[in-house]
Amino acid sequence: MTTTFSYEGMFSARSKETPVSHPRHATFDFAVAYPPPDVVPFDGLVDGLRKGLEREGHDLVYYTERNGNEALREFTAQKLANDRGISATPDEVFMTAGSGEANFVLIRALSDPGDTVITEQYVYVGTLNQLMNHGINVVGTPIDDQGIIPEALDELMTDLTAQGKKPKFLYTIPEHQNPTGTTMPTARRKQVIDICHKHEVPILEDDCYVDLRFDGEAQEAYASLDTTGMVMHVASYSKLLVPGLRLGYFVAPEEVTNRAVGFRSSGTANHFASLAVEGYLTDHLQDHKDDLAGSLGPKANAMVTSLGENFGGTGATWAVPQGGCYTWLTMPEGTPMDELVDEAFDAGVGYLPGANFAPNGDGQNCARLCFAYETPENNRDGIARLAEFLDGKGYMKSAPAD
Ligand SMILES: Cc1ncc(COP(=O)(O)O)c(C=O)c1O
Repeated sequence: MTTTFSYEGMFSARSKETPVSHPRHATFDFAVAYPPPDVVPFDGLVDGLRKGLEREGHDLVYYTERNGNEALREFTAQKLANDRGISATPDEVFMTAGSGEANFVLIRALSDPGDTVITEQYVYVGTLNQLMNHGINVVGTPIDDQGIIPEALDELMTDLTAQGKKPKFLYTIPEHQNPTGTTMPTARRKQVIDICHKHEVPILEDDCYVDLRFDGEAQEAYASLDTTGMVMHVASYSKLLVPGLRLGYFVAPEEVTNRAVGFRSSGTANHFASLAVEGYLTDHLQDHKDDLAGSLGPKANAMVTSLGENFGGTGATWAVPQGGCYTWLTMPEGTPMDELVDEAFDAGVGYLPGANFAPNGDGQNCARLCFAYETPENNRDGIARLAEFLDGKGYMKSAPAD
């Protein structure tokens, strides 16, 4: 658009120039954050939509109730009870435009610019940006291959409080974490709950990958382990189905929900998409989860096996995920995965540099690799290509023997 009016000097203090990005796909695209495209149930969603429209299509002329379509809230409350042991009435389920909006409104309800919030040492970049754009002091708590290290969290909360920076809440992705691919065992979650009670810090639990498990058992949700109302639970239909639906939800105590509502970006969650989701999942939830697991398992296995074959003995480590979309590659210190990202893309491999996810400014030698999007063959070959590229750059030396 050619314009003559100038907005110079009129922008808000927190507005940041963010050019529209045009996603580019590498030959082996491990940078994306999509669930597997091969199991998207297009026909099932269309059938579900038709069923919903026949039942209540005439209601599309109205805005739905403020917390979203009733049939989908009923389904979601039942799913939370069956899958996560969380007890919530349909009225306590709040539908949002993806879990991104759920996180956004809860962040806004609970924090002001200058406040401190704790996240895992590496955290989903969307939430990190939401926090930072709001002027939050984000502090990452140390993790290992089982997620948050409880003792380190306790120490961090004590230190921050002593400095007058008592955290407003802990944001955590305990199941198939984005970006690190780890799941926190129930025992650790219980320790974290005790620590949070001790410090009087609530928990914002982001469970958006829970349906994408292909190995082992889901660990108990924070929101089922704690019944005092200290946990706010967020989840999504983006990863179980597709992000394009823009449907997520949260369950929180009424006093929190009533504050969060005021920060919504639009009236109510997408009614049209809600009909499709409820219509499809009511009859197909388990089948669809089985399809997802059948697709994700071999893809993860191909990537992890190829990591072993190509990165074994170099001092690199990686997560062996039981679900979700990601593994996390940690190269030896000094491997600048952030600086190498464009050259790796030109060599055919897309990944996201670890530093993008790091509130504390570390992670330069790490990369998030998505195994969900490409085929198992491409996962195998793409990892081999990444190793070849890094070798060409001189970063694939054998690790010294212990
Ligand atoms: C941990 C986590 N939370 C929230 C989201 C936002 O997803 P959506 O808004 O599509 O539900 C994502 C997307 O990648 C995510 O990884």
